[in-house]
Amino acid sequence: MEERIKVIQNNGVPAHIAIIMDGNGRWAKKRALPRVAGHHEGMKVVRKITRLANKLGVKVLTLYAFSTENWKRPKSEVDYLMKLPEEFLGTFLPELVDENVKVQMIGDRTNLPSHTIAAIDKAIHDTKNNTGIILNFALNYGSRAEILHAVQHVLKDINNGILKEEDLSEQLFSNYLMTHDLPDPDLLIRTSGEIRLSNFMLWQLAYTEFWFTNVLWPDFKEVHLLEAIEAFQSRSRRFGGLQSEE
Ligand code: FPP
Repeated sequence: MEERIKVIQNNGVPAHIAIIMDGNGRWAKKRALPRVAGHHEGMKVVRKITRLANKLGVKVLTLYAFSTENWKRPKSEVDYLMKLPEEFLGTFLPELVDENVKVQMIGDRTNLPSHTIAAIDKAIHDTKNNTGIILNFALNYGSRAEILHAVQHVLKDINNGILKEEDLSEQLFSNYLMTHDLPDPDLLIRTSGEIRLSNFMLWQLAYTEFWFTNVLWPDFKEVHLLEAIEAFQSRSRRFGGLQSEE
């Protein structure tokens, strides 16, 4: 594994990896466990993958922890998911601080329970001066809502004379998104065999490489992250242009 890590590090590690962590429910069902047991196991995987990504030199890891559509789930499951950040950070925050991880969040804070926000805000505060990997939780996040909100903000700035319509560019528009301080993801991973984006970072993923696996998130191991990055490294990214040797 160490040798494999070294080779990966020499081949250009993706700066930003985004993950749609899917399959927790199916993992639990296969074991005749309640769905929330899958979420709990998935939480432990978050820790392992964050550590490895940090070690590899990944700069940003964005994890889709709760989508705006997830409110449709039974209240008991939603309540459990809303307690996970507290449990995760309650257990692992000291370790994240030690390992130089910087916690951030994207998503709509307004509907989140105050106990969830309090846990996240404490983590953001306690890690704000860290310079290692950014662990960015997408919590109550929906990409269309994010884009719509950005458009409203742009219009407001134009109406107030803060922004000139002719100055609006892709780069400038990106500054109005929740990811304004982050580079676009280089690599998107989705687990559990689903091949869709589910309203995740639609603007930001325009040129991202996608990697899908049938592995359920609670079964996702370090080796799967290495596999995904190796696949990424074997692809040629042209951003719509031609390869330099063509
Ligand atoms: C999708 O699986 C997963 C989620 C909706 C929740 C993801 C959350 C975690 C992995 C834990 C987050 C950890 C922290 C630290 C906040 P699913 O329930 O849709 O699975 P299924 O498709 O098999 O039903």
